[in-house]
Amino acid sequence: MRHSRTVKVLRLILVAAGFVLAQVSPAPVAADQILEKQIAEQVENLLARMTLDEKNGQLNLVSYGDPPEGQIEQVRTGRIGATLNVVDPRLVARYRQAASESRLGIPLLMGLDAVDFFRIAFPPPIAWAATWRPELGEAAARAVAMEAATTGINWTFAPMVDISRDARWGRVVEGAGEDPYLASRFAFARTRGYLRGGLMPTAKHYVGYGAVEAGRDYNTALIPLSDLYDRHLPPFRAAIEAGAETVMAALNAINGVPATVNTFLLDKVLRQDLNFKGLVTSDYAAISELLHHGVATNLAEAGRKALAAGVDLDMEGEAHTRHLAAEVAAGRVPVSQIDAAVRRVLSVKFRMGLFESRPAPVAPNESETRAVARQVARESIVLLKNEAAALPISPSVKTVALIGASARSDFDDSWYGPAQMTRPPTVTLHDALVSALGNHQKLAFAPAFTDACGKTLKDPHEAVAIAQSADLVILAVSEDCEFSGEGTSRTNLDLSPAQQDMLDRLSAVGRPVVLIIQAGRPLTLAKPALQADAILFAWLPRTEGRVALAEILTGAVSPSGKLPMTFPRSVGQIPISYDVLPTSRPPNHNRYTSRYLDEDVTPLYPFGHGLSYTTFAFANLRTASPSLPRDGSILLDVDVTNTGSRPGEEVVQLYVRQPVASRSRPLRQLRGFHKVKLRPGQTETLRFELRAADFVFHDDGGMPQIEPGVIEAYVGGSSAATLKTEFRLE
Ligand code: GLC
Repeated sequence: MRHSRTVKVLRLILVAAGFVLAQVSPAPVAADQILEKQIAEQVENLLARMTLDEKNGQLNLVSYGDPPEGQIEQVRTGRIGATLNVVDPRLVARYRQAASESRLGIPLLMGLDAVDFFRIAFPPPIAWAATWRPELGEAAARAVAMEAATTGINWTFAPMVDISRDARWGRVVEGAGEDPYLASRFAFARTRGYLRGGLMPTAKHYVGYGAVEAGRDYNTALIPLSDLYDRHLPPFRAAIEAGAETVMAALNAINGVPATVNTFLLDKVLRQDLNFKGLVTSDYAAISELLHHGVATNLAEAGRKALAAGVDLDMEGEAHTRHLAAEVAAGRVPVSQIDAAVRRVLSVKFRMGLFESRPAPVAPNESETRAVARQVARESIVLLKNEAAALPISPSVKTVALIGASARSDFDDSWYGPAQMTRPPTVTLHDALVSALGNHQKLAFAPAFTDACGKTLKDPHEAVAIAQSADLVILAVSEDCEFSGEGTSRTNLDLSPAQQDMLDRLSAVGRPVVLIIQAGRPLTLAKPALQADAILFAWLPRTEGRVALAEILTGAVSPSGKLPMTFPRSVGQIPISYDVLPTSRPPNHNRYTSRYLDEDVTPLYPFGHGLSYTTFAFANLRTASPSLPRDGSILLDVDVTNTGSRPGEEVVQLYVRQPVASRSRPLRQLRGFHKVKLRPGQTETLRFELRAADFVFHDDGGMPQIEPGVIEAYVGGSSAATLKTEFRLE
């Protein structure tokens, strides 16, 4: 959301005014403070003229209703202040016109889940995180927002910034994985991207939704305050710092209190500690679902409690439209509470420039959008394994057997559906590979399964037959068609039985097998990892990503993606992450240590893991000084060398550990990363800077602590880095 020209001019005037005032007044007055004062006055003037019904209408967020006439009339009479899922530009125009014709002409917030695609389908946000390039995440968010903004909508329900260590929860696909540091960098970048693309972002789901018990969607989350502040709040803080002026309360309960009525989290933590000045919307029907949570006996009470706790907009709960006026008349809801909520809503609308006539959004350039989508896919695809130089496909390979119906699928959908009715042109992996292979190379194909979902084998014998006459076998499988996303929790993350059966048969043929997996979450791949010579984890590559996949298969592009989430060996290890605490008995061969009888305690692939077509070495990790002063910083340098025969990119990661403190500290914590491109034999010295703030942790009361002591620092190509140095935190 670029502030409109008027706001910019106003800022210039105010800066000039501020400058003049600074010459005459003792304390310089920042332009923003003057602008805030101007907006506050405009809000008060408007609020003073509003009827109770019009105030309640501003708190009413409704989803597109077909036919729309009834809703459009409610907009015209001031009973609706915000919409979602109104997508058709002609309809958007009718809703906006109705708002301008309302008595006070208060414009609408018009929202949509414009997350990772509107027309050109980008890989999902977890793949953006796998690039470890926040600037690419910003470019992707901006491109998606620009496409969506052309319809006239002005608000997106993104970025989702939930931290999760549990791949059973299907919504990991929408976030940036398990690590607060990486997720905060992407939360900031994505927020800024949506803003720059013309949409007001929403930081969601506040808070702790990624920690639902047992990975079961909508389940409760039990989160100690220390963990809330250390793990779950940082990405929200980053999104707010980047300009998110709306936050969506989560559907789950935290420690038994639903987020939608959690006064402590909404007021003390969000509005005080995180200094959030914007509006809070409920999630879809979340206010009415408070009855399921068992914290309200009826919808009127649910609405009353949500408003009192600090939730401003009622998304599809119908609580405020049905009951708020009567609750005021009965003296159960003070008008002051409604005014406080309406003030926040109007302030956001003013700050978005909605009250001014704004130029129509600039239509994005499709080739630029596609180029960003292609680059995200190229840099997000993770090479998990590559033995016997199975990849890239050697020129000596004459025949490639491509197996799996998903290789012929261009189905780019997701749980929130294709926002745009027209599907952009795209190519399948099969066709992309045909184009990418050399003229002397042949591609044989067999679908093997009845469809792209890969749940049912159609003809494994045909697949085995083409594998037997090929030099290289590629099995392409995709996560089952339940997709990742909302309402897709699973207790089993293996390939489907049919997919595993096909891999069993192909691995018995005796040709090198490359496994390509398209999924929105970590899967349990212990057995496939023993059978396949190479594994490419492609997330959901979508419109431009299938070409990127073919570029990587043929070596035109070297893979550089790194895992933003740990890949477990089995579901029994979940929740699993790299930043675990040391425990009283760190796991070893001894039975009486923190280990399993029936599974290795280590992950299959650790956080930050990802291979290249070349290799890298790390040496000479050194600090410029032996200690980090409390008010200063410390520099760490490391030499990185491309020790292979191909150019390649490496994400060089810095992890820290404070081995002794007043409470156990994680074995590793990510505190820096650089993506570097090196030619064969080239060495580059990379520099990291750490400050005392990088070592803040929170106590049981949620209070920040920094304690002096030894700090261990590790640098490498994943969280399993071993190159180590130490310094002292003063
Ligand atoms: C859903 C999701 C939320 C989404 C909202 C509007 O229930 O939880 O992420 O933004 O409804 O579609």
